[in-house]
Amino acid sequence: MKLTKVYLNENEMPRYYYNIQADMPNPLHPPLHPGTGQPIGPEDLSVIFPMELIKQEVSKERFIEIPEEVFEVYKTYRSTPIIRAYNLEKVLNTPAKIYYKYEGASPAGSHKLNTALAQAYYNKKEGVEKLCTETGAGQWGTALAYACNFFGLKCRIFMVKVSYNQKPYRKMMMHTYGAEVYASPSELTKSGKEILNKDPHCPGSLGIAISEAVEEAVQDEKTKYALGSVLNHVVLHQTIIGEEAKLQMEKFGDYPDIVIGCHGGGSNFAGLAFPFIKDKLEGKKIRAIAAEPASCPTLTKGIFSYDFGDVSKMTPLLPMYTLGHNFIPPSIHAGGLRYHGASPLVSQLLKDNIIEAQAFTQKEIFSAALLFSKTEGIIPAPESSHAIKCAINEAEKCKEEGTSKTILFNLSGHGLLDMGSYEKYFSNVLEDYDYPEENIKAALKELERYPKIQ
Ligand SMILES: Cc1ncc(COP(=O)(O)O)c(C=O)c1O
Repeated sequence: MKLTKVYLNENEMPRYYYNIQADMPNPLHPPLHPGTGQPIGPEDLSVIFPMELIKQEVSKERFIEIPEEVFEVYKTYRSTPIIRAYNLEKVLNTPAKIYYKYEGASPAGSHKLNTALAQAYYNKKEGVEKLCTETGAGQWGTALAYACNFFGLKCRIFMVKVSYNQKPYRKMMMHTYGAEVYASPSELTKSGKEILNKDPHCPGSLGIAISEAVEEAVQDEKTKYALGSVLNHVVLHQTIIGEEAKLQMEKFGDYPDIVIGCHGGGSNFAGLAFPFIKDKLEGKKIRAIAAEPASCPTLTKGIFSYDFGDVSKMTPLLPMYTLGHNFIPPSIHAGGLRYHGASPLVSQLLKDNIIEAQAFTQKEIFSAALLFSKTEGIIPAPESSHAIKCAINEAEKCKEEGTSKTILFNLSGHGLLDMGSYEKYFSNVLEDYDYPEENIKAALKELERYPKIQ
């Protein structure tokens, strides 16, 4: 009988996160203090993060144990399935084998819960009472609201204004789990007010929402900040995806030639890809592709430089591919991919040619989403549809070349609360934004003043 989907039993689930810092050929450049430009120490970060997460940020340990309390909650929705996309393969008439790992199976609707639970747990353990965060499309906010509710923490969320208006039911989900949600830029913070003074119609960006959340966190000892992507500890927690995927692919009797994830800050791509990259670094042949929006092309058009993670320059300077922290991406419907920067881990591996990146336009990703919905039945999030488009392209290449490759992509979330965006696609009013060359040039110019990566 042909195998269509594979889950893991609870007793087969991985008990460790994989830390790629143990195996990278070139280590990360250190984060720098936003004021002094000197490498930061744990004390600098302790204002906004609990110590256990700071330790994970710099750890070189290869495997880090998943805490029992977090594992117990993972068991309620993990493992997530890997499904062979037989119907999609058939319609594409490709010799390629296409598999997807379905992270939309989590109660919050995406992969974001994997790190939200770990972050809420470590904060609670260290006596924190409230977490503040940003959210783009609302997937991360929903996940953190869920996790805070579970571990008994208060939660305040700054949601990028364009998404706040596009996706009202995400907001309702966050309210359902007991979180407070504000459209960003807001009047609640100094950073928000400054931006609104300059541009009252500003659609917001993840960089602005991060400034607002960090500003709130630094004002109160019992409040900390949680980030949904980019940082090493976030990527670390997401590796449970790839750890599971390796065991599941074994059960299929297969191994991917290509792994693909969409790319916003890097966490779902890295979460799936890094455990496979470990094999690549040990000699296995495998490609890993990060799929990003053409209108926010951080990895394909950005530069590798120190930059701030937020607009108000409150975060440390991180070594990453960036379009400049002042760049406000066009209002595409994949709100979770509208970020100027990228994970330093993903950036370093891209710089070292160990991974690849490709960019896709809004209309082509919706067209791929539609084909996927009709063949596989799951309606994907616009963010995840970048990975679908990339997988379809690779499968079509296989057809042209007459080769059969095994493609595994991460379906990072479902799109059931993104139907407003689908409606716009059906009504033909979705725009394909031009590559915002002038805006990016201007935002990158400012980086010339920051420390150079040696
Ligand atoms: C469904 C979904 N996929 C992907 C992303 C992008 O984030 P990351 O690159 O950290 O995985 C988001 C972010 O909000 C998301 O909601």
